[in-house]
Amino acid sequence: MENAKKLEAFQAKIDADIKIEPKDWMPEKYRRTLIRQISQHAHSEVIGMQPEGNWLTRAPSLRSKKILMAKIQDEAGHGLYLYCAAETLGIKREQFLEWLHEGKAKYSSVFNYPTLTWADIGAIGWLVDGAAIVNQVSLQGTSYGPYSRAMVKICMEESFHQRQGYEIMVTLANGTKEQKEMAQDALNRWWWPSIMMFGPHDADSAHSNQSLKWKIKRESNDELRQKFIDKTVEQGEHIGLSFPDPDLKWNKSSGHYEYGKINWNEFWNVVKGYGPGNKKRLAHHKDAHEEGSWVRQGAIAYAKKKRSIQKTA
Ligand code: 3HC
Repeated sequence: MENAKKLEAFQAKIDADIKIEPKDWMPEKYRRTLIRQISQHAHSEVIGMQPEGNWLTRAPSLRSKKILMAKIQDEAGHGLYLYCAAETLGIKREQFLEWLHEGKAKYSSVFNYPTLTWADIGAIGWLVDGAAIVNQVSLQGTSYGPYSRAMVKICMEESFHQRQGYEIMVTLANGTKEQKEMAQDALNRWWWPSIMMFGPHDADSAHSNQSLKWKIKRESNDELRQKFIDKTVEQGEHIGLSFPDPDLKWNKSSGHYEYGKINWNEFWNVVKGYGPGNKKRLAHHKDAHEEGSWVRQGAIAYAKKKRSIQKTA
């Protein structure tokens, strides 16, 4: 009875759009869903630095190198905000990283594709960050307070990410024949992985129904995917690029683009670890974590020393 009453009061807060805070009572399943989603979101931000980092030393100008450096640094910060938000649910960051390294936690499948040319950096900013913005703007309204507030901060920086990517694509599309071909090749390779970022179709989504009821999600996977497609196709056509989907066409009566079948075999294959870059991404993350352990130990020792000095002062 006790729990039923608590659940009723909890749902009433959700329905009244009152944010749930760390110290509030929450159903164990709500907590577990947030631990899963926020920590995987954080992993995606951090691992997402790798494909772009691959081009830092080969950026075509000092300006583009500075912009890429700033963007990658932002992603690290987004990861930190999100780990902090996830830790408010009672799990330590070390545990999240252990689950990631053991293959028990996911990160966004899109980051398992290689960055073959400079145009990929444009396509990632334009499409991957573009898709992330659509998802994250919606997540600003999520019912869990710390997650919602982290999203507000992150979304301000994401718009710069998307714009710098699109600027690269505009420059290449208006450049030489080879540069335009490079931009088209990148769009061909990044379009489908970007629309897969929104997850399975609603009917196949394991978590969406409950996540929508608890307003962890404010819009469904397909609603957000459609929003992204509708706003992105015109941007690509505006710079003379074509999309690798023969079924993509504007439907006047629905006011949306129709699009072709997503290759869910490819999606699940990459999610399960058999994508082009999975092994490399995880190995690099583990190496970097290992190499950075002295920094963590130093920071922990310093914090301990500082606390003991403050205690005796
Ligand atoms: N990549 C990998 N796994 C995915 C996925 C994707 N693109 N989409 C879905 N999945 C997984 C889910 O994690 C879930 O598996 P799990 O139970 O083991 O966690 C399973 O597929 C079923 O999918 P659901 O739709 O039922 O899962 P969710 O309700 O969690 O919805 C989601 C998936 C829409 C990605 C949701 O988790 C979400 O909105 N997450 C927050 C946003 C996020 O993580 N974005 C990743 C990119 S971050 C980024 O791009 C940074 C930018 O700055 C570059």
